[in-house]
Amino acid sequence: MFYLFPFGNVSQNEGIIVYGAGAIGQSFLKQLEVTLPFAVIYVTDKKIVSSKKVGNVVFLPEKDVFQLPAYQIVVASLKFGEEIKQRLIQQGIEAERVVMLAENHAMEESQFEPHSFDWNEYYSDAEGHNEVQFQTYLEPLIRKYDFSFSRVVDFACGKGRIAELLSSFSDSLVCVDTSREAIDYCVQRFREKSNVECIVSEPEWIPLDKNSIDLLYSWDAMVHFDYRSIDYILTGFSRILKSGGFAVIHHSNAREHNSFKADKNWRKNPHCRSEFNAKDMRHLCEKSGFTVEEQQIMDWGIEALDCISVIRKC
Ligand SMILES: C[S@@+](CC[C@H](N)C(=O)[O-])C[C@H]1O[C@@H](n2cnc3c(N)ncnc32)[C@H](O)[C@@H]1O
Repeated sequence: MFYLFPFGNVSQNEGIIVYGAGAIGQSFLKQLEVTLPFAVIYVTDKKIVSSKKVGNVVFLPEKDVFQLPAYQIVVASLKFGEEIKQRLIQQGIEAERVVMLAENHAMEESQFEPHSFDWNEYYSDAEGHNEVQFQTYLEPLIRKYDFSFSRVVDFACGKGRIAELLSSFSDSLVCVDTSREAIDYCVQRFREKSNVECIVSEPEWIPLDKNSIDLLYSWDAMVHFDYRSIDYILTGFSRILKSGGFAVIHHSNAREHNSFKADKNWRKNPHCRSEFNAKDMRHLCEKSGFTVEEQQIMDWGIEALDCISVIRKC
């Protein structure tokens, strides 16, 4: 099992206390080391008898926790979580300070392909970031390149939050995703827009005609795809794009990253980025008949974690 630190349930503060120095606690430390959201991390456990400082992590006995500022306490145990919480409360810690690990923070080690993952939480969380992401990353490229908006594809569109913005630029926009639920949602979302079509695709097959598309973009989806899927998908892009057509692809740049070693399992990496990078994209483009017009290395919580490649079918 892999245990995800409950990033969504802790507030920004100078410090955090992790209760539990076992396998889950150690995994939390690794995640905090990469993401660096706290200046100081305290780790406590019944088994810790004396204090020790390693970098910005302070290991200390349970009794010393009560002398610390009122930082949140993240309980690094699923099995004994409730018992630990009750003990802390009995000793005077306010219940609101204790952050529990939920069942969905525990993930199977096995690799789930991005098309079989449940994106529902993502869909609702991401919805508020549409305009800012569009204006920061996609709009400058639209201004810079002479894209044709005759027939456009949003690949791995999810529930259509970016497609909504692009639909007003496009004569015809096709929303493509492997999730039937997401596509059903898009059908409802765009029911008033006669220029938008919504299609369920196969993980490695896009059901669109050869040489039928002028522009294709994919936002915050292929960042999770591994080398093999991108290899297949680029072949698909090459098939459906017209000669000279562009693809704007937001993908991972996590392989050979300066600040961490990317795992083969995308779900273990910061922001679930896959073990893939800008160099891999250049290599695959060469194989599948694309020229790389430009690559923008970009930050996503972590410096240089992602890349946007603008590629053109030869
Ligand atoms: C993180 S969501 C991003 C959705 C959307 N682009 C956005 O920014 O809101 C990833 C999406 O990729 C879709 N997906 C995963 N694998 C896919 C594949 N092989 N082909 C098409 N869609 C895929 C998922 O169903 C999901 O909707």
